[in-house]
Amino acid sequence: MILKLMGSKKGTEKELLWQSRFAEPFDREALLFSSSVDVDKALYQEDIKGSIAHVTMLSEEAIIPVEEARLIVEGLEEIEQEITSGAFVPHWEDEDIHTAIENRLKEKIGPIAGKMHSGRSRNDQVATDTKLYLKGIINELDNALAALKQLLVEKAETYRYTIIFGYTHLQRAQPVSAGHYYLSYFNMFHRDRERLDDLLKRVDISPLGAAAFAGSTLPLNAKRSMELLDFGALFENSIDAVSDRDIIIEFISICSIVMMHLSRFCEDLILWSSSEFDYLEISDAFSTGSSIMPQKKNADIAELVRGKTGRVYGDLINILTIMKGLPLSYNRDMQEDKPPLFDAAKSTVSSVRIFTKMLAHTKLNEERLAKLTGEDLSLATEIAEYLVRKNLPFRDAHRITGKIVSHAIESATPLPDLTLETYRSFSKLFDNDLYDALKPEASINTKLSHGSTSFASVDMQIKAAREKLNP
Ligand code: ARG
Repeated sequence: MILKLMGSKKGTEKELLWQSRFAEPFDREALLFSSSVDVDKALYQEDIKGSIAHVTMLSEEAIIPVEEARLIVEGLEEIEQEITSGAFVPHWEDEDIHTAIENRLKEKIGPIAGKMHSGRSRNDQVATDTKLYLKGIINELDNALAALKQLLVEKAETYRYTIIFGYTHLQRAQPVSAGHYYLSYFNMFHRDRERLDDLLKRVDISPLGAAAFAGSTLPLNAKRSMELLDFGALFENSIDAVSDRDIIIEFISICSIVMMHLSRFCEDLILWSSSEFDYLEISDAFSTGSSIMPQKKNADIAELVRGKTGRVYGDLINILTIMKGLPLSYNRDMQEDKPPLFDAAKSTVSSVRIFTKMLAHTKLNEERLAKLTGEDLSLATEIAEYLVRKNLPFRDAHRITGKIVSHAIESATPLPDLTLETYRSFSKLFDNDLYDALKPEASINTKLSHGSTSFASVDMQIKAAREKLNP
């Protein structure tokens, strides 16, 4: 929404929190420029929660009378409902959501509203709001990733015996179990959840009670505020408590990693659903058509997720650049932390959710994959390893196999269809048992090394993944 200046008034009419020190009113355009209400109104619930905890602590410590605290808390609870229902709409002229709520409270209960700010600055207030928001959004992202992991285990189970191509350099490399492939993504998203879990330790530290940055002369009980807000720990240093935006940077960097994982996955889906590959089908419900070419079926959802990765990286660079070189402690620049935070959170959570739904509606084209993997040159490594088992040094085996591959290409014959005579013309070590090794199943099932693609290994990985689903 673009805010418009109303009328031609020079200065603002509303009394700003800090106005009394100034002789002239704040310029309306400057207020419009500096107002964050349009963005930080998303934090109204966190803000009210933080204020209720602070006021409760103030009354328990006899810093404000119990009766007045009760009035404030009741007023705040009403305001929360008013904002939720739309009965009260925070206005840009109030500078930020904290002030909008305070001004509304003043309208409701008079000057007592001002007591809500005893021993608290908007600096520790906004830091508290942001941490409460982060706790919620980390949980949401974590749940979305948990659902994706669950689906990946199910996919791995469904397709554990389906053979697909594994690629390096986007060249067919070696056949693998499709279950193995899905579980590789499972591992990535599992690490993303571990990162979120680790971040939570730092988010779970209450900054409330740091005041502007140096603390307060009032006998605040910051530990009590911490308990009331369900934080696990309390800040150590009030300067750091109001200045720390590491948690936002960490969160957006985790979002960036999640998006990077998703966009790689999307790239596979986009390529594999094209008619050139034709390895899988994304259901109609997640595909779009072309307005001009009737035959087209596009993987737009996967493309959009891949595209949103760019904006999340942009959010990361945005916040890193805002924080670079900022002198301690609070600076107004830091108000600009919320647009990238909200944007990254929304883009990432919605991407994980829609991706999961789309992936649930994709099917591997098993028939075609079986045909292609059965006749492909990607079995060449099996030939080389066959020779190694016959005691030939790997380098020699590689060289001989290279010549066989070149012959197969020239004669347009799949490797399993070359005669034994032909094989023996390259090395006398070849025997009839070579053909057993030239089946993709055999190639897969003789990979006995740890974490490899053999069906037995994939079964073990599925079991381990199942255990990791609900830590
Ligand atoms: N709207 C401000 C923000 O989000 C609140 C803190 C204002 N503090 C100040 N010293 N002006 O950063």
